[in-house]
Amino acid sequence: MAPGSDDLSHVHEPVLVQEVLAFLALERSPGGLVVDGTVGAGGHAAAILRAHPDVRLLGIDRDPAILTHAAQRLAPFGDRVRLVHRSYAELAEVLAEAGESAPAGVLLDVGVSSLQLDDPSRGFSFRGGEHAPDMRFDSSSSDATAGELINHASERNLARILFELGDEPRARSVARAIVAARPITTVAQLREVVARSALRVRRHDPATRTFQALRIAVNDELGHMERGLDVALRQLATGGRLVVLCFQSAEERLVKTAFREAARERRGRILTKKPVRATSEEVRRNPRARPARLRAFEAGSNEEREGS
Ligand SMILES: C[S@@+](CC[C@H](N)C(=O)[O-])C[C@H]1O[C@@H](n2cnc3c(N)ncnc32)[C@H](O)[C@@H]1O
Repeated sequence: MAPGSDDLSHVHEPVLVQEVLAFLALERSPGGLVVDGTVGAGGHAAAILRAHPDVRLLGIDRDPAILTHAAQRLAPFGDRVRLVHRSYAELAEVLAEAGESAPAGVLLDVGVSSLQLDDPSRGFSFRGGEHAPDMRFDSSSSDATAGELINHASERNLARILFELGDEPRARSVARAIVAARPITTVAQLREVVARSALRVRRHDPATRTFQALRIAVNDELGHMERGLDVALRQLATGGRLVVLCFQSAEERLVKTAFREAARERRGRILTKKPVRATSEEVRRNPRARPARLRAFEAGSNEEREGS
């Protein structure tokens, strides 16, 4: 089997692959190390390894279950790949433990994989039926689940989460409906409660925004992202590139702020004045690409960065 031509390729079609490869520009760093901080099912990783037969890849993911899929998909690339169960926010520690430093590229494709969404027992999708709303990336962790959050958070806190992390215009009504319906024990029950009060937009299930917001909150995704962006920008080799794909407005703001701050401190330059979006052709083929926004940054020399 040719590398990457495995039967998992249909499971999670990676978005903006050509654009990711172009912005990483790994041809400038033969033999270099690239970090895929959200390796997921390994779609982008496989494309990178195929396009650059001499790069090595360190793949990180918070979800131990998805790493088994990545291991299977990336097995044809042999010892060019190492996979680590951690958060990309801990990139400095991961690199030190692997005896590595100064990656030529870091990719962050934040959010949830369709492999995770398609497993009803994980509770990520509103199609999860009678399963409990869990939504933790790492089900072995002691973190609170989405079920615990919706059954115990105050109405005010729930409304804030739905508005800020889900862009739900009717956040207060949805939060009120959730609190009134407690205890909520299944995904089906949550979906039904939300569907009665959330804004309906053509083509989208009204529960989409609530499920996204709860997932981001349960996993403290913005906290990890803020730390991860900072550490990635500081760990890159001179001329190394950070490429970030996001799908939600609060994530986008974090990336914009981190890049602007790094550029202002002369730690490198922003490569994308405006975020890069999928072509209409790609959106037709893979609707998940529609909300994707790509931003990229190139690190300056160490002297510049240390002087800042
Ligand atoms: C959109 S998917 C990535 C898909 C991947 N690019 C591919 O082509 O298959 C996002 C992945 O990021 C992981 N993830 C989310 N937050 C993370 C974090 N802080 N550190 C590491 N992995 C994280 C999720 O578990 C999920 O597998």
